[in-house]
Amino acid sequence: MPCALITGITGQDGSYLTEFLLDQGYTVHGLVRRTSSLERSNLRHLCSNPAVFGKTLHLHSADLERPITFLRILQRVNPDEIYHLAGQSHVGLSFDMAETTADSIAMGTLRILEIVREHPAPVRLFHATSSEIFGRPTVSPQDESTPLNPVNPYGAAKAFATQMIRIYREKFGLHLTNGILYNHESPRRGENFVTRKICRTAAAIKLGLATEVRLGDTSARRDWGDARDYVRGMWLSLQQPAGDDYVFATGVLHSVQEVLELAFAEVGLNWRPYVHRDERLVRPPETCTLVGDSSKVCRLGWQPATDFAALIRWMVSAELEAMSHTPRDVDPA
Ligand code: GDD
Repeated sequence: MPCALITGITGQDGSYLTEFLLDQGYTVHGLVRRTSSLERSNLRHLCSNPAVFGKTLHLHSADLERPITFLRILQRVNPDEIYHLAGQSHVGLSFDMAETTADSIAMGTLRILEIVREHPAPVRLFHATSSEIFGRPTVSPQDESTPLNPVNPYGAAKAFATQMIRIYREKFGLHLTNGILYNHESPRRGENFVTRKICRTAAAIKLGLATEVRLGDTSARRDWGDARDYVRGMWLSLQQPAGDDYVFATGVLHSVQEVLELAFAEVGLNWRPYVHRDERLVRPPETCTLVGDSSKVCRLGWQPATDFAALIRWMVSAELEAMSHTPRDVDPA
């Protein structure tokens, strides 16, 4: 039975990846921050399933700031594959929390690399990096050869970690893979990311639980995919004989306004009266848009779901469903 160890297992990607790996017959071990609440996490359905929890899914308390805990768990679990997904993941917040961001992403990844380097058994590692490493790219679309040019603390930390993966792969011959992930969404997305924020508030307005949504730049465009496709790609990339870098993207751009149009249409409302611009949420201007070229990983058999409209509709209906069962106030910030 193959065995995987996941950092950041309670997040959107960690939870979908866990489901995918369990379906593939893996035993999954996840690292959970001591402060995380499992009851509210994306794993609660698996943790409350006695056929899974403690049998094929095991959770371990660990903070990546203390590498000794990771070392002990790695030695005990001895996984075939490590999926490193943990780290502060909000670009806007990274300007307010630059040190925390750098520590969790840049140093967190380096600490894991140092431990993996000394690990006596062969292990494959997937590192979830980001299109933000390209920052203001000079080419569009971007691929694995696009130069790194980050423009925010999050992107800079990811660029460091991405480059260290490349350096350790080359220097020590380790099976290390960078997945350069463009935006990928689902109902499990964090509430402060723009698609989830919009879908959640559209549903809340429909149910009379909110009255408005405050946003930054609604003309901003992103390459948005479906998180379930991206975790399948993570696994696929680790099944290759050697580590490598792969871009995961749809190659199609949409604007924040298109998210608004689709989400509010799904609840039968016109978005315009409910949306207010908040200057505090506006980020530095983007001169070149982040859109990815995934040809390399597509040659391995990966295909993204390109139906952006279906993705947004799915997210809105999940919010309606959840709020109909447990109505609660929605924080518009
Ligand atoms: N979060 C947020 N909130 N974004 C807003 C808002 C708002 O109120 N208004 C406009 N936006 C714009 C942002 O400026 C950005 O252009 C776009 O919406 C998407 O923002 P996010 O959903 O916060 O995602 P992101 O692109 O900054 O980062 C995500 O994708 C990266 C990969 O490309 C995160 O998942 C990163 O961790 C990931 O690496």
